[in-house]
Amino acid sequence: MDGRAATLEEQAKGPFLNPLEMNNPNAAAVVEKVRASAYADMFRQVYGPAALDDVDSAFDKIAEAIAAFERRPLFNRFTSKYDAYLAGNARLTSQELRGMRAFEDEKKGNCAACHPSRPAADGTPPLFTDFSYDNLGVGRNPHNRFYQQAAQFNPDGRTFVDRGLGAFTKLASEDGKFKVPTLRNVTRTAPYLHNGYFNSLRNVVDFYNTRDVKPACKNPFTDEASALMQRCWPVPEVGENVNTDELGNLKLSDQEVDDIVAFMHTLTDGWKPHSRGH
Ligand code: HEC
Repeated sequence: MDGRAATLEEQAKGPFLNPLEMNNPNAAAVVEKVRASAYADMFRQVYGPAALDDVDSAFDKIAEAIAAFERRPLFNRFTSKYDAYLAGNARLTSQELRGMRAFEDEKKGNCAACHPSRPAADGTPPLFTDFSYDNLGVGRNPHNRFYQQAAQFNPDGRTFVDRGLGAFTKLASEDGKFKVPTLRNVTRTAPYLHNGYFNSLRNVVDFYNTRDVKPACKNPFTDEASALMQRCWPVPEVGENVNTDELGNLKLSDQEVDDIVAFMHTLTDGWKPHSRGH
């Protein structure tokens, strides 16, 4: 999430044409596929009989339709155990409650500073993101397949550095910053962080806790499992603008780390009152 798209509509267009995603040569090819699809008539019913005739306006409408779909309640369910707890319809376990407090406490996890956990004054459920951008100082992920891409897509090979928001805005002060993601359904969205460095939520929290405590790994290309074994963290992919005020040395106990992970498990949609645990 490097900030390149300002709207859901704009975001929806990107993957169609990106050579490393869906790899359509141009908008006309996308529109042609929709014209040939089983739902072409439904599309014309919604947008008019001529809706697929002109490429530019058809491509806009395709993006509009996807964005409208993404805005539906299906994508915004708010049916987690935590939502039930906020509504007074569920009790959190003592571990989940400890985790919630550590998540919110400025002197503990301080997670809610960027991943807000309380409903807005008007009752809007918390989204667990403040939509800001930050550089957490995560290292390079040696398993990132982008390193092996052909030179036409990645001329830098293994020296490639993802500057995130800074690559888009061309502001050095934003190099290495990525958008704060929601933590809703985070149990289902591994691997974590923009480059997929972490496979486990516990290791993400461990990183927040000990980034500035453990020594730097000798090899900047040290993956999650090796870093854990060697008790080190790789140097940040982007060394500038790393947030050292709010994270890096949280002084959380192992128990507190586990508690915060247990709390994050309450954020998964589809919780039912009689389902046990999460
Ligand atoms: C200063 C803001 C900030 C604070 C404080 C913060 N986070 Fe984050 N968090 C971020 C940003 C930014 C990312 C995305 C970084 C990236 O992709 O490189 C992120 C990503 C994550 C992810 C990965 C989600 C995914 O889908 O990839 C998890 C899990 C997470 N944070 C949990 C926590 C927890 C738990 C705490 C408290 C211990 C915390 N965060 C504190 C800003 C913050």
